[in-house]
Amino acid sequence: MSESRFPYPPNPNGWFRAAWSSEIRAGEVKPLALFGTELVLFRDADGNAAVLDAFCPHLGAHLGFGGEVEGDGVRCPFHSWKWGRDGSCLDIPYAKKIPPRARIRSWPVRERNGLILVWHHDRGAEPDWEIPDLAELSSDDWTPLEVRRWEVKARWLDMNENAVDKVHFRYVHGTPVIPESEIDVDGHVFRVRNVLKMTTPRGDVEATLTTTDYGPAFQTVHITGAVDTLMVNTCTPIDDERTDVCFAYTVRKAADGSHERVGAARIRDLEHQFEQDRPIWENKTYFARPLLCAEDGDFGAYRRWMKQFFSEEY
Ligand code: FES
Ligand SMILES: [Fe+2]
Repeated sequence: MSESRFPYPPNPNGWFRAAWSSEIRAGEVKPLALFGTELVLFRDADGNAAVLDAFCPHLGAHLGFGGEVEGDGVRCPFHSWKWGRDGSCLDIPYAKKIPPRARIRSWPVRERNGLILVWHHDRGAEPDWEIPDLAELSSDDWTPLEVRRWEVKARWLDMNENAVDKVHFRYVHGTPVIPESEIDVDGHVFRVRNVLKMTTPRGDVEATLTTTDYGPAFQTVHITGAVDTLMVNTCTPIDDERTDVCFAYTVRKAADGSHERVGAARIRDLEHQFEQDRPIWENKTYFARPLLCAEDGDFGAYRRWMKQFFSEEY
């Protein structure tokens, strides 16, 4: 596939899903391949998560294949050097002195909303904003998250623009009318509120769909209408042309239990919408200067906002 399909850098700066918290237990070690880079994810004996570059600086073994957690660090499977969560070398069992330059790159990590998030910055800058805690996820009023995950042959920006593309709701998802939308930009947060009609078995109902991007790869979608729904969407670049896309859904419980049926229908509908978007995403190209008409969504606002997550102009 030619590079020209994506004339923007593959990996923006920001917080990305490395894993769901439930995917790794204390003392476990896993290989990760994100951003076209080999990494290792582990939890130390106390359960603290860490992400390091995969290849041991000694002689290059991959820590994610055979590395073992010991207390506060991970031991390399090759010659047993031990690396801490901060990337320092904690022990070389057969050496009198640890070489002063013995360090491995450690990636900033947060654990929030049931996710292990990793900070990617292509110039190594430290995080200067955070992903918020979502109250719905710890509330008994909302159902447990249902998680769906896909590997998509597309880049994140082509998918993210969906939120401002109000016209596609009509022609891809079949809403009866093009939604009215309102945009609100605040630093690393971009919010679009769409008021639209949704077709249901009981006729068309008015719904609002509020999409909030916290940086390039963590998005919430609040949907009202037949049932209040929250989607937590994360997309992590795997390499230059593939993205690991995850949608997680929760609905607000109703006293009469009707949320179970209505919520399941809503989730089926949202999954169907993903399958409608997918072939467009997997085959489209990205035009830096698209040919727009006055009625299109505000792609300009989205793209201006998105530029803050690139270190360089594109
Ligand atoms: S390669 Fe890791 S200790 Fe030698
Ligand atoms: Fe869509």
